[in-house]
Amino acid sequence: MPKKPDDEAIFRNTVAFVRAELGGESSGHDWWHVWRVLKNAERIAESEAGADMTVVRLAALLHDIADHKFHGGDHSVGPAKARAWLERQGLDEARVAEVCAIVRDVSFKACGGKPNMADLEGKIVQDADRLDAIGAIGIARVFAVNANLGREIFNPEDSSRPTAIGHFHEKLLLLKDLMNTPTAKSMAEGRHAFMLRFLEQFQEEWGAVL
Ligand code: ADP
Ligand code: NI
Repeated sequence: MPKKPDDEAIFRNTVAFVRAELGGESSGHDWWHVWRVLKNAERIAESEAGADMTVVRLAALLHDIADHKFHGGDHSVGPAKARAWLERQGLDEARVAEVCAIVRDVSFKACGGKPNMADLEGKIVQDADRLDAIGAIGIARVFAVNANLGREIFNPEDSSRPTAIGHFHEKLLLLKDLMNTPTAKSMAEGRHAFMLRFLEQFQEEWGAVL
């Protein structure tokens, strides 16, 4: 019988798999987004006692494996892809199911649904993903995604138009208060304050040319 791979080997294989899958993605879900989410998730899990680190790490790696926006809103693609991969790696069924539930709920949430993450591991990955949407990195991402969507950065004459600055008010400034874990709440503070400083300076410079 072939030897079962250990958690560390499954983790390393999954890094290579996700990296190959997401490499050139340019909609805000590239490999480096996944890598930052992984690092945030590990940091949160280390200070929130009781999380299964393997489940956290695998769910962080696989959370954007098939973004719903590229599959016509089909939420089953990501979890199915994650399941096929993890089964091939020989991960036990209980943890395959846990990781896939997190992948499903993270992407559903991104689409406007509101399932509350049931398990600590899911709460951690959701927090880690949200942290990457705020602060200096969040600012960089919002302008990258906004440009991809062909939108203006700001339009003071038409507030009904979607813009990058509008996205801060619709979503990014709300994320700090949506964090599940105390660790992520405290990590969000500095990032949130930095966005407020950025917006203040942006308005100041914009006001100077009006
Ligand atoms: P998630 O990371 O949970 O999948 P999204 O897919 O909504 O979240 O967002 C991914 C990135 O794209 C985030 O950094 C977010 O700020 C940015 N983004 C999402 N929607 C917009 C938008 N309408 N305008 C500008 N940026 C956006
Ligand atoms: Ni993400």
